Amino acid sequence: MKITMIGVGYVGLVTGTCLAEIGHQVVCLNTDKKKSARLQKGKVHIYEPGLDKLVQKNLKAGRLRFTTDYAAAIRDSLIVFIAVGTPSRPDGQAELKYVFQAAESISQHMIDYKVIVNKSTVPVGTGEKVKEIIQRKYSGRFDVVSCPEFLREGSAVTDFLRPDRVVIGANNKKSANLVLDVFKPIRTKKLVTNLKSAELIKYASNAFLATKISFINEISNICDLVGADVEEVAYGMGLDKRIGTSFLKAGVGYGGSCFPKDVSALEQIAGFNGYDFKLLKAVIRVNNNQRSVVVKKAKKLLGSLRGKRIGVLGLAFKNNTDDIRESAAIDVIRLLQKEGARVTAYDPVASKRAKEVLRRVKLAGSAYQACQDAELVVIATEWQEFQKLDWRKVKNLMRVPQVVDGRNILDQNTMRKLGFHYLSIGR
Ligand code: UDX
Repeated sequence: MKITMIGVGYVGLVTGTCLAEIGHQVVCLNTDKKKSARLQKGKVHIYEPGLDKLVQKNLKAGRLRFTTDYAAAIRDSLIVFIAVGTPSRPDGQAELKYVFQAAESISQHMIDYKVIVNKSTVPVGTGEKVKEIIQRKYSGRFDVVSCPEFLREGSAVTDFLRPDRVVIGANNKKSANLVLDVFKPIRTKKLVTNLKSAELIKYASNAFLATKISFINEISNICDLVGADVEEVAYGMGLDKRIGTSFLKAGVGYGGSCFPKDVSALEQIAGFNGYDFKLLKAVIRVNNNQRSVVVKKAKKLLGSLRGKRIGVLGLAFKNNTDDIRESAAIDVIRLLQKEGARVTAYDPVASKRAKEVLRRVKLAGSAYQACQDAELVVIATEWQEFQKLDWRKVKNLMRVPQVVDGRNILDQNTMRKLGFHYLSIGR
């Protein structure tokens, strides 16, 4: 099928490329001529394992192309996806202006029936608003469908090609069947429901995953107080199929461009509809507090942090990505600096992006360099690279062998046998 993808961010570029990969003719549309030209040459601007090769493969196969020409891109496609950003506004609400601008642009170039598929994460009822905006300029037939994405950064390509489910929110069979056809090559459970339920499934799913993380982080704080091991507790809980082991990893707290935004947006949506979502307010509070747990442990080892040299390993909000949006690692660095610490930081891929937002932080070219002469090393992102470090070598590089493992990625007995003063989360 001929498909147009509006937006070439994490969601749009992955979705557009993967739709080409499963056989569709895809035009990825965005407003930045330079970005389009770079993408047309196969130069991918985001770090997502496997994506650049997939873009180049589908460009070569002629199934994928990039343009800024709205008129042609809209006119020639039956299905038009909206995959633009919905960042948080200062009050926590989702910023929908980019979605509405895309709807407006689509309406100016429509000449026949189309299905507008909203892939961006949007509050319940946004599909209806998109419909109203299009109807202002276009009196012909069209449908709006919600098809939320469940892609995790760092595994987005796999998550698209092998999803747990595809959710399609439609108000009639015709548009539902057309979108089912789009995903036909993907063997997974396909849920067809109404527009509003589909929009809410996305927020509720992310909010529940974030709730699991804040729950295990609270349990980790209790483990610290009673002397239990949160890794053992999480494992024991997860053996219950109703609970499951995923998203029960205690640490410095969740970050990223989705969980913080979506949890706040859902809390706002509830409030707007007269419901006080007490649980989500607590999830947010617990997550914000978890950053300070790491700093408290640093002070337990060092006393005052004023003037102390601290090496921070990790800047991205999670492993396998260069994305630093709402990264707990960045928050921890700022808290350490507030206590007067002198921070050197390293990340395998996110240093370039972090440089734009950090001040007075020395960015090291390697993990070892970040540990050189440090009196404490803080692990803030769960990169596998940090598990594989030669920690004996790290100990010899450090002025004082002390580690706060904010992601529980190292074995505490091994670290203590090596002679480290080693603290972690809930163990
Ligand atoms: C998330 C959802 O998983 C995905 O379905 C949705 O489409 C987008 O938002 P993402 O934010 O890319 O994906 O990454 P995810 O792997 O969910 O991690 C989110 C944050 O939670 C990261 O900061 C990660 O470090 C943290 N996390 C994750 C934990 O602290 N503990 C866990 O057990 C899992």
